[in-house]
Amino acid sequence: MRMVDIITKKRDGGILTREEIHYFIEGYTRGAIPDYQASALCMAILFKGMNNDEISILTDEMCHSGATMDLSKIDGVKVDKHSTGGVGDKTSLVLCPMVASCGVKVAKMSGRGLGHTGGTLDKLESIPGLSVTKSDEEFIRQVNDIGIAIIGQTSELDPADKKLYALRDVTGTVEAIPLIASSIMSKKLASGTDTILLDVTFGEGAFMKDIDSARELARVMVDIGNGLGKNTKAVLSSMEEPLGYAVGNSLEIKEVVNALHGKGPKDLMELCYKCGSIILMQAGITHTEKEGRLMLSESIRSGKAYMTFENMVKAQGGDIAFLENPDKFRESGFIINLISSSEGYVSKINALTIGEVSMKLGAGREKLDDMIDMAAGILLHKKVGDYVKKGDTLLEIHTSRSNYKELIKELEGAFELVSKPVPTHEVVWEVVE
Ligand code: URA
Repeated sequence: MRMVDIITKKRDGGILTREEIHYFIEGYTRGAIPDYQASALCMAILFKGMNNDEISILTDEMCHSGATMDLSKIDGVKVDKHSTGGVGDKTSLVLCPMVASCGVKVAKMSGRGLGHTGGTLDKLESIPGLSVTKSDEEFIRQVNDIGIAIIGQTSELDPADKKLYALRDVTGTVEAIPLIASSIMSKKLASGTDTILLDVTFGEGAFMKDIDSARELARVMVDIGNGLGKNTKAVLSSMEEPLGYAVGNSLEIKEVVNALHGKGPKDLMELCYKCGSIILMQAGITHTEKEGRLMLSESIRSGKAYMTFENMVKAQGGDIAFLENPDKFRESGFIINLISSSEGYVSKINALTIGEVSMKLGAGREKLDDMIDMAAGILLHKKVGDYVKKGDTLLEIHTSRSNYKELIKELEGAFELVSKPVPTHEVVWEVVE
């Protein structure tokens, strides 16, 4: 078998066999197939797609490209939650402590930033000292002890995805349903969880630009998960504007801390309550959404959700002084206000532009080995639906790079103002089960 034949077969719209998919995944993981051939195949898949059988085989081959985890030593129902990515998407960091404090065991493996979207691991690592690396035993012990752990994939787990994820990030091949579905589901299946909740984002700031493709991606993943005996559901959530106000690693951690203290932005909290109430039902803790919402709001009110987050940060070596006093986080060299030169109601804040600019300010990676500036990013002052007066601040730019001036035009273009009031965006549109 030759890799070039597999690439040309897919380029011409052919259907790959298990043997061919196995040859690719096994060879790429081992280092026998070079990045340039793997990226050519990813590009061919992006253009030509894959049928459901090919996606299931790809998922299975990726899942078994390394070790799989046995979580049977964790008592209770193990839940994992995964988002397909967004701008300002810190949902997992608020939601997981909320549900863990209600008795669900959260054994979560997260990813890093991909394209213009941020990654949960990068956000967590902005807390000084925090490590996202744990051995299987340590991971299991932490979940048993405090109910929650959020770590990176170990190098033994799904190594194919680890390599492909990083490659896709820098080769323009993220936005393909077969590649996203297999990337997410192979990790979830390898990590041995019982129950999976997927947050499939759509809109300007998401990889899926419209609800129909989000539904298609959700359907594929939910069917793969349920087909393999994992209780899997998905919500379709809007990513037209950034989620919450903060975009960028430590800026988002500060917003997470506020949210866990009951001062979270409306859109972020609505997504957490919706996802959280589904997870509580999946885990058999509650029977209705209303019951779940009540339990979750009590977890915030009582401080239990915040304490669960703090315990997790402590267990992973993070300095909780930064949570107790978020002013301790290092600030960027430049903090610049973007001022509105007109007035009106905000009808749009282009999440893609905000995500891309945030990356250029240092908050994300443009190349595989780029270092992230944890303090960099964007803090919105306005959301869709807000009224803006001339001279109001639209957002703050946080960066230590002096090239920010070149980005101001792009940021101004991200906002659209209209003269009539506009309704705020719905966050959750549908549940796929
Ligand atoms: N999240 C993942 O884990 N993989 C993708 O491909 C996209 C989002």
